[in-house]
Amino acid sequence: MAIRNIRVIGDEVLQKTCKEVKEMTPRTRQLIDDMFDTMYEANGVGLAASQVGILKRIVVIDTTGDDPYVLINPRILETSGEQSGQEGCLSVPGKTGVVLRPNYVKVRAYNEEMEPFELEGTELLARAICHEVEHLDGHLYVERVEGELMDVQDLEPEEE
Ligand code: NI
Repeated sequence: MAIRNIRVIGDEVLQKTCKEVKEMTPRTRQLIDDMFDTMYEANGVGLAASQVGILKRIVVIDTTGDDPYVLINPRILETSGEQSGQEGCLSVPGKTGVVLRPNYVKVRAYNEEMEPFELEGTELLARAICHEVEHLDGHLYVERVEGELMDVQDLEPEEE
């Protein structure tokens, strides 16, 4: 288990365009394992390789804590509907803002065996897919926030 350093807003690596993955290598497998470890350790639901300083088109997502996906070279095929909701990013610590996203997303990507697959998601999964794929092109959600970026601590705690 290896936790990598998460780059934060202001680090120029977050604005770079990531490169397609051509083949799976032991080094890339290690990167993916480390990305999961890093995401879970930080209580995130998604992480893009650029957030740990590696410019490869790889994202990991797990919106439930028990439903992990690796998306290599992801390409969004279809979106529909919309949802407006709070979003955050491990690279923008302590902040949150309202972002409009599609409520349904279909994405095509490669798995760790470099086999193509399609994934459909709604609600939080759709949001996470859009958010993470944008990281690969050097974009952060803060560019899309409606209104002000807020401090997480200023939000009213939700009852569980
Ligand atoms: Ni993010």
